[in-house]
Amino acid sequence: MDGKKSVGLARIYGAAVALAAIALGSAYALSDTVSEMALLSARYTARVSFLMFLLVVSAGPAARYFRRNPWTWLARRRRHLGLAFAGLMMLHLLALAINVLQFRPRELSEVALGGLVYVLIVLMALTSNDAAQRRMGKYWRWLHWVGVNAIVVTFTVSYTGRIFEPDYFWTGLVFAPFAIAALALRLEDALRRLR
Ligand code: HEM
Repeated sequence: MDGKKSVGLARIYGAAVALAAIALGSAYALSDTVSEMALLSARYTARVSFLMFLLVVSAGPAARYFRRNPWTWLARRRRHLGLAFAGLMMLHLLALAINVLQFRPRELSEVALGGLVYVLIVLMALTSNDAAQRRMGKYWRWLHWVGVNAIVVTFTVSYTGRIFEPDYFWTGLVFAPFAIAALALRLEDALRRLR
């Protein structure tokens, strides 16, 4: 790997580590009890994952539209943005596992859909390399298309739903428009492929 390329990758993974530190540091600083810290860790790791995911879905369309840096730079490194997102989602998994196992057990039906999305995230991360892409051919494209869209729908449903919960109203109001915009970008991408 040449020096320029590794500096680029260090920036992306460095940004992911910084986001993870901000999420966990804020959870630690803002909570009084361990259970509150576990809840806030789940909340903030979901938020920083969402920020990284917004880059994953917007880099390609923005690079096509603006045709210049930094979007073209990000679009060419979309695979690494995706892997950085998967890493941040693993932190969400760790935080929610502590929540579910230690503080608020949930029915299987409550976690089944989220669990399925996690299976897709892990499969996408494991196949985010040239060898897997070559070997899987059209199944690779299918897996990544279904996976990205499942994630976009999950974020959109989570944040839009929060608008209707009084305790979470502001979170929903701030984040839902970005999730809906990401969903619109995916729809535009699907329509472009059909044409
Ligand atoms: C079994 C799977 C999952 C469980 C049990 C789970 C659990 C949690 C918990 C405990 C919170 C904190 C709730 C709060 O703030 O009061 C949370 C927040 C959230 N999770 Fe998950 N999660 C799962 C999977 C996912 C997946 C796959 C995604 C997205 C792809 C996701 C997106 C979110 C979002 C958007 C929030 C709200 C964060 C905010 O308030 O800004 N979750 N989740």
